[in-house]
Amino acid sequence: MEVLRYDIVILGSGLAGMRAALQASKASDGKLRIALVSKLHAMRSHSVSAEGGISGVLYPGENNDSIALHAYDTVKGSDYLSDQDAVELLVNHAPSEIRLFDHLGVPWNRDKRGKIILRAFGGMSVPRTAFAADKTGFFMMNALYDTLLSFSNVEIFHEHIVTKLIVHNGKFEGMAAIDMATGETRTFSSNAGIIATGGFGRSYGFTTTSYSSTGDGIALAYAEGISLKDMEFVQFHPTALVPSGILITEAARGEGAYLLNSKGERFMENYAKSKMELAPRDIISRAIMTEIENGRGIKNKEYGDNEFVHLDLRHLGEAKINETLPNIKEISIKMIGVDPSNELLPIRPACHFTMGGINTDINGNVLSSGKKIEGLWAAGECGCVSIHGANRLGSNSLSQCVIWGKMTGNEAARLAMKDKKGNEDKVLEISELEEKRISAILGANGHESPYDLRSELWHTMDNYVGVYRNAKALAHAVKKIAELKKRFAHIGIGDKSAVYNTNLRDALEVWNMLVLSECVAECALNRKESRGAHSRREYQKRNDRAWLKHTIVTLEKGKNRITYKKVKITKWKPEERKY
Ligand code: FUM
Repeated sequence: MEVLRYDIVILGSGLAGMRAALQASKASDGKLRIALVSKLHAMRSHSVSAEGGISGVLYPGENNDSIALHAYDTVKGSDYLSDQDAVELLVNHAPSEIRLFDHLGVPWNRDKRGKIILRAFGGMSVPRTAFAADKTGFFMMNALYDTLLSFSNVEIFHEHIVTKLIVHNGKFEGMAAIDMATGETRTFSSNAGIIATGGFGRSYGFTTTSYSSTGDGIALAYAEGISLKDMEFVQFHPTALVPSGILITEAARGEGAYLLNSKGERFMENYAKSKMELAPRDIISRAIMTEIENGRGIKNKEYGDNEFVHLDLRHLGEAKINETLPNIKEISIKMIGVDPSNELLPIRPACHFTMGGINTDINGNVLSSGKKIEGLWAAGECGCVSIHGANRLGSNSLSQCVIWGKMTGNEAARLAMKDKKGNEDKVLEISELEEKRISAILGANGHESPYDLRSELWHTMDNYVGVYRNAKALAHAVKKIAELKKRFAHIGIGDKSAVYNTNLRDALEVWNMLVLSECVAECALNRKESRGAHSRREYQKRNDRAWLKHTIVTLEKGKNRITYKKVKITKWKPEERKY
């Protein structure tokens, strides 16, 4: 087994992880040795799929926009569950990050005078989303990756699956990984670690997220006794293409597209009269499901069994679509042979983002039972700083990724520059045990297929933990997931080879998704109110008196223990959310 010593180890190579690496390099004048570890080739991280844009008030005063208004929109969008100090941090830092990426080479769409154009997004009072057509994530990732290649102190370990975080006596010591190319264990020893592995949207079958969004970093942290926060809050994006679930960006509606039911009606008029198609995602997803449940959905066997509604872009005209939405045009033509310039797109809500994740403080420090784990941070979707609360506004996630990437990169660099001594013996001892655990999984010859377990999990999450929830369905999901976890003990891994063993990888991911989905279902069953994306049939109203609090879930003696924590309110008192 190879043990490698680095000043900082970053797990995950999306926007948050790469931004952290860049910042830690800059903060140390390129002196710190940084390992960036990714289960994929770094440029295949899910951030490349981000389409519509990144939020930030670039021109205060224009359109009456202000930093305070961005904060207010975000807090209101979150259904008042966000921590308002964290939101203020987000909105204050977003503009400078957009400008940084301008310098790094992102081709933001601009007007004739060269000014960066801002587009409208759901739940935002005014247009404040910068964009590079509808491939914003791809361009931002390219810019970061290109920049990082010029830092010789940053080493990227592509296709390394981390299976264990090494945390000892409340202190981060490193992580153990499998090198996919050889099957060998490679252990990273370090005093500073950043988890940036994204969300776990793939716990659902119908999702806009890639197959790699399996929440690995969150599940690894949970296994170490680190608490998770607000796991019941899962975002459903209203406009996923049917039948694949590929994202049709909210920017389509930002550019003026309509939603139509089977009668050709713009039904959003009945749900959010003033914002219409630019209401927040939780409201639009519920509206679409209500239309479908009330017989105004559309069926087409060619697109599978699920009913859908239509997204109408035809009136935007081909030139505008080519200029601002070329990616979704290409996707629609390639996936279902429909050109949105002259035909209607079939769409329905799909799991898109997980608001819950690793419990951190405002600086991204990972917390366990309220105490900081020394030397460990989380950034991006995997970390729940509590910006998005019960419902994230579109385009706030890219801002979160880069801002907390920068912040945790700085913090990790500060620690790594003063604390160089590692606990190599402990790291070696724990990774040897981990190597044995992994070879036992690889050797497993049980009768259960991890792929069957995954399909059953997808079915459970899609059907019982969806847009609308109720006690009976959630209790069923809790029971079913517990059963799937038991069956996981009897899995068999068909491929026994060391080289690129995707069977082994998939099995490890299935376990991670089972663990996290169980937390989602249990926390959702416990929360007896409707707030943001968590919509209970029996408790249709938000109940601030009983439920204005974060859910914290911690693994104790093999069981998920649920407690609650106060929400930080600075300026904006909870009020009824009207759009
Ligand atoms: O619709 C979109 O382009 C998604 C953006 C986001 O989730 O922030």
